[in-house]
Amino acid sequence: MANILIAVSGSISAYKIADLVSELGKAGHQAQCLLTASAREFVSPLVLETLSGRPARSEIFGPDVSGTEHIELARWADLLVFAPASANMLARLALGLADDLPSTVALASEAPMLIAPAMNTVMWEKPIVQQHLATLVQRGAQVVQPASGLLACGEIGMGKLAPIAEILTAIERAITPAKPDLAGQRILITAGPTTTAIDAVRYITNHSTGRMGAAMAEEALRRGAVVDYILGTDKGVVRPVAPRGAEGRLKLVEVRTAEEMAAAALEKLPLVQGIVATAAVMDYAVAAPSASKLKRASEAIALDLVPSVDVLGSLRKAAKGQWFLGFAAETDDVEAHGKGKLEAKGLDFLFANEVARLGSAGQTGFAVNTNAGLLFSARGERHELALGSKAEIARQIWDLIA
Ligand code: CTP
Repeated sequence: MANILIAVSGSISAYKIADLVSELGKAGHQAQCLLTASAREFVSPLVLETLSGRPARSEIFGPDVSGTEHIELARWADLLVFAPASANMLARLALGLADDLPSTVALASEAPMLIAPAMNTVMWEKPIVQQHLATLVQRGAQVVQPASGLLACGEIGMGKLAPIAEILTAIERAITPAKPDLAGQRILITAGPTTTAIDAVRYITNHSTGRMGAAMAEEALRRGAVVDYILGTDKGVVRPVAPRGAEGRLKLVEVRTAEEMAAAALEKLPLVQGIVATAAVMDYAVAAPSASKLKRASEAIALDLVPSVDVLGSLRKAAKGQWFLGFAAETDDVEAHGKGKLEAKGLDFLFANEVARLGSAGQTGFAVNTNAGLLFSARGERHELALGSKAEIARQIWDLIA
């Protein structure tokens, strides 16, 4: 049984939330609704109060509202559901505005957020609306995508509130603790960038921030695994945060170079059953880094680079029955390169995603919180994972391989 706070915004579909509240009650959950001022035009608070057995408020202040009610509600909620979420609500959430009770509770709460947008097709397709939604997904919100069909305005297109049954399933998934299907497994994860020194003060690295590795580790910990996490560190690198109760199962080792990563990983190899290689390892190392700072000269200089260690390759060679999941970030032909690497590296699984070309921005790959891509297995399976937060992509990858 969970406490579900439902924030309803102005949309013709607001009336459908009565069904959602009543279904949640039947499933044994406690629901409470908060309404924006526009939502009150579409659905009577009395309907939602009667079905939920709790007040359906809009205002932060009022004659029978305590000054700290928004904090109490924020703490009470196990899950915040924004359904229907209007374009205006997405904008206010993305910007962190707190100008009514639903938006203020959202800002004051640490509960996970589930968003079911509903609006006219043209509004839905506006880049600014999609940007706001992407911002929320990057902060960890889950989205129940709107459906396509005849809208109240007479247009046919995307923007209908997802069916209540679909929202219910998403709620159940969001509040159900992960199944402990990795309990008893110890997993080695390599993550982040490696660096190679040019001299005492300069180095070469890549754009990796370790976000996908952190998402894979956090989900594995949630499912009961012990995780040996070998992280290549640099400015701005993300470290995994163990879920409550799993702190002792995360063993973090920080390294800088590909050689250090290989040494740390090989040391852990005999302890683990599986390897997840998300690290963006530098393929080349500076042949002879200078111990002192190189001085500026007016002529061009050449830097001698030599191949560095293949971390995954060395682990593969030394393995005794462990399974391997590799990652591939590609700018071109993700499918062919992904499949090729699965075979060439002798892996059990490979997840391939696209990274942006130089000078362009993307929603997948380095330094963003979202990803999408293809998961290949040695058995010939191919799964397409649609754009979602890296946490959601990690959840799907573990579902497919666990
Ligand atoms: N990898 C590794 N050590 C390296 C290079 C890659 O462990 N020196 C691992 C990565 O962690 C990843 C997989 O190998 O899981 C594929 O990495 P990628 O850089 O795509 O492979 P490369 O063989 O280096 O191919 P490319 O020529 O595209 O760089």
